[in-house]
Amino acid sequence: MESVGVGLLGLGTVGTAVARRLIDEWELLGERAGATPVLRAVAVRDLSRPREVDLKNARLVADPGAVVADPAIGIIVEAIGGTDPATALIESSLRAGKTVVTANKAVMAESGPRLTAIAAEHSARLYFEASVGAGLPVIGLLRGSLLGDRIATLDCVINGTTNVILTQMRTAGVSFEVALADAQRRGFAEADPSLDVDGWDAVHKLVILAWLGLGSRVAPAAVDRVGIRHVAGADVAALAQLGYRVRLVAHAERAPGGAAVHLRVRPTAVATGHLLHDVEDADNAVVISSDLAGRVMLRGLGAGGASTASAVVSDIVTAVRERKAPADRAVSAPVEARLLTEEDVEVAGYVRIRLSPEADARALVLQALEDRGIPVDAAVDAPGSELIVLTGTAPRAVHDRALETLDTLTHVDEILGALDRAEA
Ligand code: HSE
Repeated sequence: MESVGVGLLGLGTVGTAVARRLIDEWELLGERAGATPVLRAVAVRDLSRPREVDLKNARLVADPGAVVADPAIGIIVEAIGGTDPATALIESSLRAGKTVVTANKAVMAESGPRLTAIAAEHSARLYFEASVGAGLPVIGLLRGSLLGDRIATLDCVINGTTNVILTQMRTAGVSFEVALADAQRRGFAEADPSLDVDGWDAVHKLVILAWLGLGSRVAPAAVDRVGIRHVAGADVAALAQLGYRVRLVAHAERAPGGAAVHLRVRPTAVATGHLLHDVEDADNAVVISSDLAGRVMLRGLGAGGASTASAVVSDIVTAVRERKAPADRAVSAPVEARLLTEEDVEVAGYVRIRLSPEADARALVLQALEDRGIPVDAAVDAPGSELIVLTGTAPRAVHDRALETLDTLTHVDEILGALDRAEA
């Protein structure tokens, strides 16, 4: 059977799982692809480090550029992570007319449309199924199955680390700091967890989904982003009593009939019955609402070597299969997005307030919210003179202004917590 040379850049968790699959299952993959993908070279930073996989006949090299330049290699698998040097290596591979398969969400969020255009110019191909949700086939859904639809919204849990932490905060009744330390000990969170807990990882993935699903280009820095560091255990517990679970929800929407879009990543109280409510621990989920298909949901393990390798190897098999077809899979160029303003984005909320001791404080605070344009969906008394208010849908700007001015009322001792809220 014909063979196609594969070069792997990076042999970390993902690279190792990909190499193992290519080596162990070469016959099956060859049958599915119509030619055998053969791992010929692997670039690593440290040649002396012991490896968990027997690379058989593949060369281990220190220079990724040598893998890209190797004429016997047609498919470059980028599994280095981070933007530098990954972006330059992907770009030079595409300029050389090679196929690139990557799991790199930071690169695809920052440079995806530009790299796709370079691929199209050089009759090269770029595959990136693993960049969002690992083995969940969400890119394939957006680039394939839903191409006839107009997508209105995407609602996702696309960061496993924060979902593990938030799940632990609820089930064990612990603080963010304790749950983070536990997630680090169990190998879910990185030693430097900022990419995950500050929401950047989810932002990168959401930007890719908005590009493919809404046809809109949004820079990661322009996404409305709030991480989970300031989510209080007391809010997680209070919400659990009311049937809500806090998740880092990544949301993208297109204004009805309009060109403007809105992307946000924020800790959100998700109601019982909402499709994201039961997505626990390291699971990811993507809920897509579109005009023809209605609501489509993908759910499963969105991280880890095996799940990411599933998507990477699938891309390799697809690339081998499509090697003789014209390179016509370029995604249509996204339009630079106009973003909805905070006056236009409608949100519902949750706020926990410590009331001052006056007898009429409760009624006055609820009245003050209504006066500021915030409907009150429900108000629940909690121990310690606390009042929990589920605020109804209103523009983000109205919510923010209301909370700022509420803080100055004499009947309010302190605003203890505030989150977005999503109903079923
Ligand atoms: N750090 C990511 C997560 C890994 O926690 O989901 C997968 O991109």
